[in-house]
Amino acid sequence: MYIYDNYDQRIVDERVAQFKEQTERYLAGGLTEEQFLPLRLQNGLYVQRYAPMLRVAVPYGLLSSTQVRKLAHIARTYDKGYAHISTRTNVQYNWPELKDVPEILAELASVQMHAIQTSGNCIRNTTTDQFAGVTPNELVDARPYCEIIRQWSTFHPEFAFLPRKFKIAVNSHLSDDRSATMLHDIGIKIVKNDQGEIGFAVYVGGGLGRTPIVASLVKEFLPEKDLLTYLDAVLRVYNLNGRRDNKYKARIKILVKALGVEAFAEKVDAEWQHLKDGPGTLTQEEIDRIKGHFTAPDYEKLTASNSLKEQLAENKAFSNWYKRNVSEHKIEGYAIVTLTLKKLGTPPGDITDKQLDVVADLADRYSFGEVRNTHEQNIVLADVKQDELFALWQEAKAAGFATPNLGLLTDMICCPGGDFCALANAKSIPVAEALQAKFDDLDYLHDLGEIDLNISGCMNACGHHHIGHIGILGVDKKGEEFYQVSLGGDSGPDATIGKILGPSFAREQMPEVIEKVLAIYVDQRIEGERFIDTYRRVGHSIFKERVYAKSN
Ligand code: HEM
Ligand code: SF4
Repeated sequence: MYIYDNYDQRIVDERVAQFKEQTERYLAGGLTEEQFLPLRLQNGLYVQRYAPMLRVAVPYGLLSSTQVRKLAHIARTYDKGYAHISTRTNVQYNWPELKDVPEILAELASVQMHAIQTSGNCIRNTTTDQFAGVTPNELVDARPYCEIIRQWSTFHPEFAFLPRKFKIAVNSHLSDDRSATMLHDIGIKIVKNDQGEIGFAVYVGGGLGRTPIVASLVKEFLPEKDLLTYLDAVLRVYNLNGRRDNKYKARIKILVKALGVEAFAEKVDAEWQHLKDGPGTLTQEEIDRIKGHFTAPDYEKLTASNSLKEQLAENKAFSNWYKRNVSEHKIEGYAIVTLTLKKLGTPPGDITDKQLDVVADLADRYSFGEVRNTHEQNIVLADVKQDELFALWQEAKAAGFATPNLGLLTDMICCPGGDFCALANAKSIPVAEALQAKFDDLDYLHDLGEIDLNISGCMNACGHHHIGHIGILGVDKKGEEFYQVSLGGDSGPDATIGKILGPSFAREQMPEVIEKVLAIYVDQRIEGERFIDTYRRVGHSIFKERVYAKSN
């Protein structure tokens, strides 16, 4: 993984000292609320319903076991004993005290972590596939490009005060997309041209929230060396033309829509002419330097495991877990393991200090001391020997994160909603819990197959409800909490925004409504068809009619 050099460490340490002083001045009354606001946002600090929320940056989701132990220590010492994995693969703390935040940041800096640019109108954490570098089905490892973007974007003087926040994702998978790339301000798909050269297809103007939009292609093939100059050009066009008069119309997606994608792409190209081949051009040396941080760990020469075959045949629970939560690795004899944070009774993405310590230990013993956070709010151990899967499974099970439901209905994305978030229209965690409780039969879940169910507590869409195959949105009706259901959303390469089913429902109706939706799918599906494929084939209206039918 990327290790800070002296320069990286110095800027992070300086920022810690600066924020400590700013917080002290604020607490002593020397800075007003208004003056303190941009300062705290630049350091990942929101003020929430009950306490501040601190968002810690986890570049492209990658963490060392030392960093995970530090996160556990922070959860234990400064929070209520847990942390939360977010859909941008960051870590959030919901209960720190403001006076402790400078100390937390100092603790983070001691393990090369920080909260810089995790909020505010700047370029946020760049995300990618959690299987990058280890899946057999990718063009190249996307992480070095994410790191290049991270170094370019952190403290970029021109883009510190953009019209709104700005999110970038990079995907290199040949057929899948695990980081919702098409729903980003800039989505970068790594591609190869006819000459066999690596480059990027650049998509701009995706995003969720109030106006959900799938990104549009603005550059079919951008050569590798031009990555940063082209991104500079896109950001400049946005910085100059993005709306600052209306917060809700400020994202780049609104600009792309207003101008039309061709006119937008022309503007970017015109801007790019000043920058192309300039000092921002990537040299091969620089690309190689960054790639040097992502070399393969010390893999042993292994063959496919025989003991694994026996263990799978003998133990049904283990084989269920293996089928769902273990993925193919590019190196023979190894496997990728996803630890699911979706246990019944636990808010999706929540992890306790004790569990974080267990994750760190497991990473040390089974996976070269590294873990990865996922967009779906789980944790990955990327390099596990097949021979050791059984032992790992037993330990993971004891710690509560081996529920064999990866990609199934109960592996849902859910934002904190009204339980913690001041912006919520409705609670979302109790809905997640009610659904987890209702659909706790694993055989039924396995039979249903892959379904993305996403829940947000308001239209800001932190829970990505628009792109759930089934989406649930909390809405407020005259002070009462209701829930709107949408169907057909998808975050993959064919990204689609879900369509609203109809009038919203009361909270206690939700399990029954979802049950009806699933029954219609089971009734309509043909052999081997996923929920989303059936929905696309049979159409929206049959779901609408049957869910709202009086006789139901
Ligand atoms: C309680 C603290 C939180 C607050 C105050 C908050 C606030 C917001 C706001 C205001 C937006 C809308 C941005 C816009 O208009 O473009 C947003 C979007 C978003 N939030 Fe949160 N959020 C919180 C927690 C979370 C959590 C826990 C997650 C992860 C599970 C998350 C992930 C996201 C994502 C991915 C979006 C993106 C929507 C897009 O792509 O445009 N947020 N959040
Ligand atoms: S979707 Fe709304 S309720 Fe949920 S975390 Fe985001 S802002 Fe809060």
